[in-house]
Amino acid sequence: MNIKTFSTHEELSEQSAQYIFEIIQKKIGETGTFVLGLATGASPRLMYQKLIQKLGTSDLDLSGLHTFNLDEYYPIRQGHPQSYFQEMYHGFWKPLHDLNQSFEITNGHILNGEAPNPDMECRIYEKMIQKTGGVDLQVLGLGINGHIGFNEPGSAGDTRTRQIDLTPETREANKKYFGDDLEKVPEHGMTMGIGTILESKEIVMIVTGEKKKEVFEKLQRLSAPTEDIPASFLLNHTKTTFYSDLA
Ligand code: GLP
Repeated sequence: MNIKTFSTHEELSEQSAQYIFEIIQKKIGETGTFVLGLATGASPRLMYQKLIQKLGTSDLDLSGLHTFNLDEYYPIRQGHPQSYFQEMYHGFWKPLHDLNQSFEITNGHILNGEAPNPDMECRIYEKMIQKTGGVDLQVLGLGINGHIGFNEPGSAGDTRTRQIDLTPETREANKKYFGDDLEKVPEHGMTMGIGTILESKEIVMIVTGEKKKEVFEKLQRLSAPTEDIPASFLLNHTKTTFYSDLA
């Protein structure tokens, strides 16, 4: 495992943002395009703010930058304040567009939590990722139960984008965003599969905060992937870097 450890969340966020900025800058300079995979949640939030500043104040032409999010609740209205659509609109696409208008908000893609046919929505999303050229760099956060995206324990390493049932642990962990009311947390989600994620050319996994310590330690003790800890399939990916602020 390639782990970079930082003494603070601030430092982790700055260094990962700078690294991702340089990768985007290089490929956009060479080909004019970049496909960035985004995760929601608290882990990458400060990194996003820093990345947006760097991209937004650069003179890069971002018209060929596409972003694809990992997951979304299902069902949820796009206008719901806790939808991942809203999180990305306000936390990434809009602030980046405001700073550098060459980035088109319509190039920010996310699974539609209102889709009438979620299975078809997932299949279309996979195709769209492939048509755009595949993910160049995927940002990930780590669930306290070891999930990546909404690939809950029990997810196989070759899964594709699909609808899933959220585990009680995940709904419990996310209820803070729904006024601490478990009933309000959707019971399902849609997520890129583990197989889909592993096709990303490069992966940056952000592991931050004491709550992740136990699962991160378990992950580091493994010598082979297990469905009990979906993030362990990253052991099969040759270009994954863990950015951690855990000693
Ligand atoms: C959530 C999201 C994931 C996220 C993870 C960790 O349930 N579905 O995409 O990466 O859990 O979230 P956080 O960074 O807030 O701990």
